[in-house]
Amino acid sequence: MSTRPGGPSDTTKSASVSGVRAIVLVGFMGAGKSSVGAALSRHLGWPFEDLDERIQAREQRSIEEIFRQSGEVVFRQLEHAALRSLVGELGASPKVVALGGGAFAQANNASLLQEAGWSTIFLDAPVEELFRRCQQQPLERPLRGDMKEFQRLYEDRRRCYLKAGSRIETAGKDVEEVAVEAINRLGLR
Ligand code: S3P
Repeated sequence: MSTRPGGPSDTTKSASVSGVRAIVLVGFMGAGKSSVGAALSRHLGWPFEDLDERIQAREQRSIEEIFRQSGEVVFRQLEHAALRSLVGELGASPKVVALGGGAFAQANNASLLQEAGWSTIFLDAPVEELFRRCQQQPLERPLRGDMKEFQRLYEDRRRCYLKAGSRIETAGKDVEEVAVEAINRLGLR
């Protein structure tokens, strides 16, 4: 997915009119959750929150350091605690949220979001494209591994992502197109 600039739109509906309380982007590594989240935030004028950023700010260490120093089990606990705090904070104003690639595959996180009544969108793409995007990004991803490991993890998790409220295919689309599709899908325009 490529990026092109986009400004706020004056044709979007307010959250209270649409009934959407928060938009949560889920999907595998490289799905474009953070970039689409930022574009949605611009379009809707809603604040954007990246769950991995929240974890890093709470921990004062990077995701890579958390994995290296404490392991995945501890990372998942921190991730759940961060999501719980985010859900607990939401007041009257809605948000756009990007989860890390493993978060929605954890049953406790998926049920927390369902109980909160938040709208979840699965950003999908063929696994080869996801891997290529991750290779092109400078970001350290502790669970990326080689193509074989990446594909195995993707196949394990895909059924979880499919439980999201909707699915958007992102292959061959740029970030703005995906953001507009999400807005239309949720009836926010
Ligand atoms: C993870 C994906 C990462 C980050 C962590 C674990 C995963 O987020 O949360 O490295 O389990 O797939 P991105 O999907 O933003 O890379």
